Amino acid sequence: MYNDVEKDIESVLLTQEQIRQKVSEMVRRIDSDYRGKELVMIAVLKGSVLFLADLVRGFKRPLEFDFIGVSSYEGGKVSTGVVRLDKEIAIDIKGKNVLVVDDILDTGRTLGFVKHYLQKFEPNEIKICVLVNKEIKRAIDVEADYWGFKIPNVFIVGYGMDFENHYRHLPYIGILKR
Ligand code: PRP
Repeated sequence: MYNDVEKDIESVLLTQEQIRQKVSEMVRRIDSDYRGKELVMIAVLKGSVLFLADLVRGFKRPLEFDFIGVSSYEGGKVSTGVVRLDKEIAIDIKGKNVLVVDDILDTGRTLGFVKHYLQKFEPNEIKICVLVNKEIKRAIDVEADYWGFKIPNVFIVGYGMDFENHYRHLPYIGILKR
């Protein structure tokens, strides 16, 4: 049961250093685009937690963040196709500039759902920021305004991403052994 999780990793796709550099670049871009504007980040639980924590620490400007809880993979490797709302947002986003933060954009179902959900609170705008952008045909027509890495259709874990709720704490992104 308590074996080293590294043994389950086939290969490292994105190292800690590559992620660190990319997050810094993303902070610089977002910082410059939102200059003089209010910024509210809404992070999608649970996969986004490590990314959000690193991202927000890069900013010196004021910002707010909150979480929305949604899930559709039920711990597995394939989207169930149904997005479940587990936790609503708890701050007022009316008239605000919302940046949705997530670890990965895959089928688009999660971020499509989140965008639709947030629209009813009448924010000024909603933009999307993901660390990893999978290059696949989306099930839902949604794209990221900011993304760190484009990757092919491989199943990845680490840096927030899980398989059966494990591996989220790995500081890098890897491909799981079969
Ligand atoms: C994962 C991930 C994204 C979503 C991306 O969440 O964190 O939110 O899937 O996939 P999609 O574009 O196909 O919707 P998951 O449902 O596994 O929940 P989790 O964040 O709690 O792991």
